[in-house]
Amino acid sequence: MAAPHPHGTGDWWRSAVIYQVYPRSFADGDGDGTGDLAGVRARLPHLAELGVDALWFTPWYLSPLVDGGYDVADYRTVDPAFGTLAEAEKLIAEARELGIGVIVDIVPNHVSDRHAWFRAALAAGPGSPERELFHFRPGRGEHGELPPNTWPSQFSGPTWTRVEDGEWYLHLFTPEQPDLNWAHPAVRQEHEDVLRFWFERGVAGVRIDSAALLAKDPALADFTEGVDPHPYIDQDELHDIYRSWRAVADEYGAVFVGEVWLPDAERFARYLRPDELHTAFNFAFLACPWEPGRLRRTIDATLAEHAPVGAPATWVLCNHDVTRTVTRYGRADTAFDFATKAFGTPTDIALGTRRARAAALLTLALPGSVYLYQGEELGLPEADIPLDRIQDPMHFRSGGTDPGRDGCRVPLPWTADAPHAGFGPGPGAPWLPQPDGWAAYAADRQAADPGSMLTLYRRALRLRRTTRGFGDGPLTWLPAPDGVLAFTRPGGLTCVVNLAPEPVRLPAHDTVLLTSGPLDEDGRLPGDTAVWLRSGSRVEED
Ligand code: NOJ
Repeated sequence: MAAPHPHGTGDWWRSAVIYQVYPRSFADGDGDGTGDLAGVRARLPHLAELGVDALWFTPWYLSPLVDGGYDVADYRTVDPAFGTLAEAEKLIAEARELGIGVIVDIVPNHVSDRHAWFRAALAAGPGSPERELFHFRPGRGEHGELPPNTWPSQFSGPTWTRVEDGEWYLHLFTPEQPDLNWAHPAVRQEHEDVLRFWFERGVAGVRIDSAALLAKDPALADFTEGVDPHPYIDQDELHDIYRSWRAVADEYGAVFVGEVWLPDAERFARYLRPDELHTAFNFAFLACPWEPGRLRRTIDATLAEHAPVGAPATWVLCNHDVTRTVTRYGRADTAFDFATKAFGTPTDIALGTRRARAAALLTLALPGSVYLYQGEELGLPEADIPLDRIQDPMHFRSGGTDPGRDGCRVPLPWTADAPHAGFGPGPGAPWLPQPDGWAAYAADRQAADPGSMLTLYRRALRLRRTTRGFGDGPLTWLPAPDGVLAFTRPGGLTCVVNLAPEPVRLPAHDTVLLTSGPLDEDGRLPGDTAVWLRSGSRVEED
């Protein structure tokens, strides 16, 4: 059995900074234009220097990559585009040497249509035990030509696809991602085995994809939004599944983070009961606009919903599915919403960057753990992908109205003066085009610039590691003028974020630890700027 995670106490995850690696776009080790594990291994020093506690890898398993790897053909094999299982094992061990844990991504709701189980189900035909692992049904209508029910898709477009023998199968995402039948014991057994497979290889945790979607109404009855109870989101059966998973994880000292998008705080918190998942992503914070009242309410609601179950909050500003932070914060509407994504939304990147810098200090000072998406530390904007290069199925399934998620998945710039901004060593062009000016964001250039986003993140993460008061624990709001968020943490840390246009005086303090931008000539905190102070109690308006 693998040893418990090396971060000293078993509670490392309650305060951790976890960096999300999208392997296809992180760094290309072999020069073919696709990121890979060799690229990640070569860049581990960047991650150690940044000062993160763990890496969450989006799926690296064998996959046709129809949905960026969330269509898994075999959980026990690394996709050759990314490397080999032996390389993944080396990467896990090398990261661990640097004090960095590895979190893998498990996608239990569905598999790829190339997965052995689905191939066997197709071959075996209607009524076979192989088909029972999925949701196969005859169609409706005189000739079975209509789908079995009216369930909505998670990706727009149909949720059922008909196969040659006339049966239909359910897929909440693309047709290449058939949903598994979680009422079947073999499905449960297989996933517990997969968890063990990766825990045995020393991973520190597992991110659970679409964690609230697995269980389905067994009747597969029709659904009308607003009329019927939801047939597949947040079904009660899920808790039993996660209690079993938790028992497996506890054998290894490993932790879970669930992808649980639920508007109901009480329902959300159920997943975080002490014998279920350790943590879940905080999507309310990710979607929250850059507005002081909304942010404060979201922070308070987050802390209130976690408190009764004793779970730490997580704080997330972006990930591989959503608009990059500097672009979102530079728009007129600074909230994130899948429903309003559109081509050509104007943005002011300088303003968005200023706010993203302030948001970084806010986020890193809040109680709990923080997720950082690759490229966030470089302040990368969302890229406009030329129409003929878009790959994301979300774009195609929307009928072309949704730009899709490729704009936040563009291969990272590492070296300003190298071809393709140093993404890889060879001539291979990156799998998604890098926009003009990408080299200006290169890590090597930013490392040498004291005013860069990378320098800000490095300093912030170092302080967060070495100063008392960060991470898990209480937060106390301080009185502050309109538009200003100010709070203290135990040990005398104060964070002040000015979201108003006018500068404000800093509260009494001993030391300015870090600012997201320069103070003005009178030592006041300008708008869209944040500061970390030691001690202090009030924020005064000028
Ligand atoms: C959530 C993942 O983050 C997203 O990228 C994926 O498309 C869906 N789940 C389906 O697996």
